[in-house]
Amino acid sequence: MTRLVNAREIIQKAYEGKYAIPHININNLEWAKAVLITAQEKNSPVILGATGGAIKWMGGLQTVSGMVNGLMEDLNITVPVVLHIDHGSYELCKQALNKGFTSVMYDGSHEPFATNLEKSKELAQLTAAKNISLEVEVGTIGGEEDGIVGDGEVAKPKEIAQLAALNPAMIAAGIGNIHGPYPESWTSLAFEAIEDISKAAGRGLVLHGGSGIPVEQVQKAILMGVSKINVNTELQQSNAAAIKEFVISGKIDQGKNFDPRKLLAGGFEAMKATVASKMDEFGSTNKA
Ligand code: 13P
Repeated sequence: MTRLVNAREIIQKAYEGKYAIPHININNLEWAKAVLITAQEKNSPVILGATGGAIKWMGGLQTVSGMVNGLMEDLNITVPVVLHIDHGSYELCKQALNKGFTSVMYDGSHEPFATNLEKSKELAQLTAAKNISLEVEVGTIGGEEDGIVGDGEVAKPKEIAQLAALNPAMIAAGIGNIHGPYPESWTSLAFEAIEDISKAAGRGLVLHGGSGIPVEQVQKAILMGVSKINVNTELQQSNAAAIKEFVISGKIDQGKNFDPRKLLAGGFEAMKATVASKMDEFGSTNKA
């Protein structure tokens, strides 16, 4: 029996309560476990996102949902947890419908808008029939993630309104955001556009590229309707920094520190600290 929930209700509550649900990308068992334990400790709802590339790395859709469901049971996780496809193709979203995922993102932002709308419409019907929540996207997110490269085109409110008419649980919009580290030349999210986009959406907006945005900008965006914020790079960086320190300091050569449970322990704790700070910044702490 899965304890996972879909995202619709927690996103709606966040939208009304003016906070955001952290979507944390998972890459392996340690990632998933660190996020779940922290969500329980912080009493925060959370969305575990997996891209097609990460799913392939971990073994496949069933491995990922089996692992997350197992962790929920074994660790007695009682806060709301969503298992979500991140930047899914139309085919991946369809496959995930029968594999234990409770939410999918269809990323049709690189298609002509008519195709994006048509496929989003089909997936809106398929997901609704299975009580699975849907995220759609229009406007592109700058930078590169899992081979998907975007030029950072800001979403058009008219297109947002057409997608909103399909009644997805949430809409991702290009709003001056970038995947991966923000370049020095980047200054700000496109706040003048967010206002119109948010009005057209009338529901929770999703901010991708949530790593490295100044906290004041994140919180301003939340007040304007952002209800889900995706974070991947910052966990990758905190995990890598802790492992790097363990290796460079020479600790790796002491005793039995080649044991993966010792080698990876610092990264695990660092990821937990990063997730906890995001929950505080996004206002989702104690909102379970
Ligand atoms: P970052 O890697 O920039 O945090 O972005 C994550 C993301 O948007 C996943 O969809």
